[in-house]
Amino acid sequence: MGGLFITFEGVEGSGKTTQHRLLAEALQRAGRAVIVTREPGGTAAGEAIRKILLTPHDPDLSSRAELLLYLAARAQHVTEILRPALDRGAIVLCDRFTDATLAYQGSGRGLPLPELERLCAWAADGLTPHRTFLLDLDPAVGLQRAQTRNSHLVSGEIRFELETLPFHQRVRAGYLDLAHREPGRIRVLDAAWPVEKLQAVIWEDVQEILEGSRE
Ligand code: TMP
Repeated sequence: MGGLFITFEGVEGSGKTTQHRLLAEALQRAGRAVIVTREPGGTAAGEAIRKILLTPHDPDLSSRAELLLYLAARAQHVTEILRPALDRGAIVLCDRFTDATLAYQGSGRGLPLPELERLCAWAADGLTPHRTFLLDLDPAVGLQRAQTRNSHLVSGEIRFELETLPFHQRVRAGYLDLAHREPGRIRVLDAAWPVEKLQAVIWEDVQEILEGSRE
């Protein structure tokens, strides 16, 4: 596999989607071919699954059903988009991936992590990001930020924003544990920094990776 796979993670309102977009624009300005995608989503089937996952249900989805839907969307994304793009040598920027499942369905919902890790590896066919930017933020601040932008109202994607603060605190702690376990892959960034400062740190890191891969 010749490409570069970069993911963005963080709690709601952490600004990861903005950084994802800004990095894509910077790479495109530098003349690089970039694939910009997201999870759940990125394929027609994945976007349909996204709708099921992010709109509220009564009664709500069970944790296991939720998990399998995320993994179904991921399996399709890996086969249809990610693996072929990486095999072609493209740079792929993905808004969330396996770490989100471990943090949300594992630490958040309480599904057992060792089992989850095996299922995630299977669904992603062993694909792991080369670099993950974790935008770390107090969920109380993040949820407030998420609620003041109105895109979620337009899309109706409010299922996780309706979760309690302790849920989002467990997700944050789960992400930080993952970063602690894999410091070489996951870069933790303070999402309270100004957008431009975050962008500069991310850009510098990505340039170093690209220069390193040329040597
Ligand atoms: P987004 O709002 O960043 O697009 O992400 C959609 C929501 O889905 C977000 O609340 C996190 C959640 N999520 C999971 O719970 N598990 C996963 O595996 C993924 C990819 C996202």
